[in-house]
Formats: sequence, C-alpha cells, structure tokens
Amino acid sequence: MAQKVRKAIIPAAGLGTRFLPATKAMPKEMIPIVDKPTIQFIIEEALASGIEDILIVTGKAKRSIEDHFDANVELEQNLKEKGKNELLKLVEETTGINLHFIRQSYPLGLGHAVLQAKAFVGNEPFIVMLGDDLMEDDVPLTKQLINDYEKTHASTIAVMQVPKEDTDKYGIIKPSGKVDKNLYNVEAFVEKPKVEDAPSDLAIIGRYLLTPEIFEILASQKPGAGNEIQLTDAIESLNKIQRVFAHEFKGKRFDVGDKFGYMKTSIEYSLAHPDLKDEMRDYLIELGKQLEGKKPAVKKEK
Ligand code: UTP
Repeated sequence: MAQKVRKAIIPAAGLGTRFLPATKAMPKEMIPIVDKPTIQFIIEEALASGIEDILIVTGKAKRSIEDHFDANVELEQNLKEKGKNELLKLVEETTGINLHFIRQSYPLGLGHAVLQAKAFVGNEPFIVMLGDDLMEDDVPLTKQLINDYEKTHASTIAVMQVPKEDTDKYGIIKPSGKVDKNLYNVEAFVEKPKVEDAPSDLAIIGRYLLTPEIFEILASQKPGAGNEIQLTDAIESLNKIQRVFAHEFKGKRFDVGDKFGYMKTSIEYSLAHPDLKDEMRDYLIELGKQLEGKKPAVKKEK
C-alpha cells in the first residue's frame, strides 16, 4: 500500500521583485485577490486534498503570514459584539490549521527553500505548492497528484501546455510516452531552456509530489540557472535513480506571480464574488463600450 501523503510545503521566502515596491515590507503571498490573500487559496487547496500538516518556508518581512493564520482575539470579540457574524466566520476560518514555519535565511533558490523542510518531512512522500499559481478544477490539482501516487508510488510533477514562445520562463519536460490518460513518462526536466531548445511545450506549474529521496540530492546540489539552487535540476537527478512522472493539468491556472496575470485573476475572481459580481460585470461592460473603437494598444518591442 502506498504511504499516505499528509504533508505539504509552501515556499514563501522569495523576494517577490516583480511586485516591488508593494513587496518591500509585505510578502507577495499576502497580496489579496479581492479580499483573500493568495496564500490562503493555496492552503485551502491543500486542506481540500486531505493534507494534514503544512510547512511554510518564510524569509524576511514575512511575519504577516504567521499573524494572518493566528487568532486575533480583539478583532473576534469586536465582531461578536457588533453581531457581524458573517465576517467573524471569515476570520475564524483562518485559524485552527496545522501550520508550521521555518526560515530560509538567504533566498538561494526554490530547491534550497524545499531543503529547509527536510526534518519536517522525514521519510514520507510530500507535496510542494507554489503560491504563484492558483488552480481551479473539479478535483483539486494536489488531490489529482495524490491519486496518481496511490497508483504509482512515485514522484509526480504537475505540468501544463504553455505557448511555445513562453517556454523559456518555465521548467520544461521532455515526455517519453503516456502511461495513463494525463500521466507521462519523462526523459528529461530542463529549467528555463531557450525557446528554440525547449523539448516540448509542457511546463512545470506550481504543484509537485515528491519522494523524500529528493533531499539527499538537494543537499549536494550546485546552483543552476540564475545562480539559484533549482528544484527542477534536483528532479532531473531524481528521475535518474527512480521514476518521476508528469501529470498534465487540464483545469484552469491563474498566474498571480506576474502583474498582468494578477490583474486578470482579480477581475475574474471579482466576477464570481457574491458581493461584487453584478456591479463588476456592469462596470466592465461599460468600460468595454468606452474602449471600443479606440486604437489597439501598440505592443512594446521586447
Ligand atoms: P519566484 O521565482 O517566483 O521568485 O519563486 P520570487 O522571489 O517569489 O518572485 P520574483 O520573481 O522576484 O517576483 C517561486 C517560489 O519559490 C519561492 C518564492 O517565494 C515563490 O513562492 N522561493 C524562491 C523561496 O521560497 N526561496 C527562494 O530562495 C526562491
């Protein structure tokens, strides 16, 4: 029988430079989509997938993540006294989760952030979830990976088709045949290849199910692309000693780590938000009318 997948790691120690100056003193994981910090969506996906314990790898200026998931007695008392029960419920939903925190003192790369979780994980399979990607599907993507693991007992990396011209922004796989509907054998994992060298258009997105053997590899891993200790390079080495599969995600991915992706996500989520959806739709229709007929925006040369 496969070991139960109970633990998840959320690396959140990056510098978030794409959102400066907002991220100078505030973690990018706390930037809200409408009214909920992005990291809360990630934690909800973990819990909906049966994860019991979550380790958040934090760095400088990340205290507000810990505070967000801690009880705020004064606020709760105030909402109770004023009879604001709906808001009280929202506040209470952020507490009582088995969260653990560890600091990554220097942001030496995603692989290095994951390595900080070695003692927390022990000898179990585990999940890595990146806060930059919000995933929507009937079954949460993390749960889809766990379902695969129960059949294969092997590491499985979530991938998704991206436009060919964007392959240099991602880790890209070289697939070598399907083993199941959405499951590929993988010949190679390549971090941010040049577009002309990309072995496919299947990109690694922010969910990984890994076996604990990855830690030994990470511990002796040399810096790779961008002079960072890359998780993709460690996965490439893992694939040489045990099978690593790729699971193609067919749901909807929102890239909130990028400014334009973040703005699109905010608009789409507000169109589904019970307090905002009607007003937002009317506003967008009105805005669309105003923009209609205007010259198309000239694309800036790269
Ligand atoms: P990103 O490449 O998105 O880096 O890291 P970043 O610093 O967060 O953002 P930009 O690109 O400067 O705007 C992917 C994920 O890995 C984490 C980040 O917090 C993010 O969730 N990470 C990255 C770490 O935890 N530690 C690191 O050393 C690097």
